[in-house]
Amino acid sequence: MKIIDIFKLQNKEKIEIAKALFKDAYTNANYTLKPSERKKINTYFKRLDKKEPIEYILKKANFYGRTFFVNKNVLIPRVETESIIPYLLKFDSVIDIGTGSGAVGITIKKENPDINVLITDISTKSIYVAKKNAKGMDIKIIHTDLTNKIPINEYKCIFANLPYISNMDTLDESVKNYEPFIALYGGLNGIEIILRLIQELHTKKWNGTLLLEMDPQQISLIKENKTIIKDQFGYNRFIQIDY
Ligand SMILES: C[S@@+](CC[C@H](N)C(=O)[O-])C[C@H]1O[C@@H](n2cnc3c(N)ncnc32)[C@H](O)[C@@H]1O
Repeated sequence: MKIIDIFKLQNKEKIEIAKALFKDAYTNANYTLKPSERKKINTYFKRLDKKEPIEYILKKANFYGRTFFVNKNVLIPRVETESIIPYLLKFDSVIDIGTGSGAVGITIKKENPDINVLITDISTKSIYVAKKNAKGMDIKIIHTDLTNKIPINEYKCIFANLPYISNMDTLDESVKNYEPFIALYGGLNGIEIILRLIQELHTKKWNGTLLLEMDPQQISLIKENKTIIKDQFGYNRFIQIDY
């Protein structure tokens, strides 16, 4: 098999895998793959054919123009989530609860190093990935459940993209079979964890701005006084609750 045979497949993702695997050799269309290279690329292609997201195969995902390390223990950051970044950049202190790969918190710190950023997650495996992505950065990282153990009064803004799926059967195979359950499932009504966070902040008498990413269909279930923010595709994607 030559590199040109991969081009002939006309499959964007397979070509991307070849590019990542063969780097310089990739520009030489007549390069013949060594048996070990052939074996490796075929294993990757098989994973792709079984609908595994390319981000998990290549262990990287793009978010807001940067590349983040990802593995099957974290949600692949979604392009819709990028729409909230300009809103978060208006604050001088932000907590990203349920950070997953760390994409949101790390992005705001990279965009403005003066912002005091704390990122948290309930999953130790997510914390491992977030720490890897935040290496060398001045970002606090806490492994915890929602606002437990967090000095919330030191922060003016909390962002959370918590799990909001109520029925896993409705998901695409590539999501259901590969992305972590803990990042997706939000209880029977889908918004159990979101409601718990809203309530915790009332109980703790927090003063600040909560920005939540939600399923557009579930926003009407939140009875708080809220402002709706659209994503770049025009969907009602985020809500802002002022405490
Ligand atoms: C939908 S993913 C979002 C990941 C990331 N913020 C993003 O936008 O790409 C939800 C994340 O919330 C975390 N999570 C779930 N329940 C949590 C809880 N009770 N407290 C903190 N984090 C939680 C999951 O481990 C997962 O990383």
